[in-house]
Amino acid sequence: MNPFISGMKDAGAEVELLYTKSLNVKPCLTCSACMMNPEGACVQDDDMKELMPKFKSADIWVFGTPVYSDAISSGLKIILERTLPILAPFLEIRDGHSRYRLRSDSGKGEIVLVSSCSLWEKENFKPLEQHICALSENFGKKYSGSLLRPHASILPGMIENKAPVDNIFEAAKNTGTELISKGEILETNLETISRPLLPLEAYTQTMNDYFNSTIKQIS
Ligand SMILES: Cc1cc2nc3c(=O)[nH]c(=O)nc-3n(C[C@H](O)[C@H](O)[C@H](O)COP(=O)(O)O)c2cc1C
Repeated sequence: MNPFISGMKDAGAEVELLYTKSLNVKPCLTCSACMMNPEGACVQDDDMKELMPKFKSADIWVFGTPVYSDAISSGLKIILERTLPILAPFLEIRDGHSRYRLRSDSGKGEIVLVSSCSLWEKENFKPLEQHICALSENFGKKYSGSLLRPHASILPGMIENKAPVDNIFEAAKNTGTELISKGEILETNLETISRPLLPLEAYTQTMNDYFNSTIKQIS
């Protein structure tokens, strides 16, 4: 996430980084009061009051989340559920699909996903990508792409051992710069970000060695 943000800033973007852990956002009460009231205001008094104007005015929503239980993190999920008042309480048919109507102040823009997971295959991000794609369509936004880092658990150790992984961070930075300066995300950069760090069998062995030594240390 940090190199991507740094690239966006280099290209002149104004970026605000918010950590879900530092926010006080309570789960949706499912009362639908926010949808029914003209201002789309939630009955709960928490940090969502400051977040909603940011959601409405931002040109790009960048969601950073690890893969947890084949999904986005619970902290991010709670916040996304609370964006319900971006939608109006009426259905319409958009792109031949039943969707909630968007409020006039809901904003357009695009969505980018940044994620990491510990399993080896890139396919482990499929449920997340599908989720973010569906969300983009329902919020009337463009899904611009995903920066995905599979078998990320080994990356800190590789950095420490000075393994040649710099191109991953450079590609993430370039992706940020190009998104802002050219309005596009290059597939070649995304491939570099997700590139295999070591073969599946070697990764499995390395991780199992790590688990075994950790278990030994604590027992
Ligand atoms: C509760 C929990 C659930 C997880 N579920 C998955 C999973 O379903 N698939 C996967 O590949 N990694 C899973 N992981 C591993 C995280 O995705 C991994 O630790 C993270 O991407 C590494 O990023 P970090 O260095 O920011 O923690 C899980 C981790 C935790 C703590």
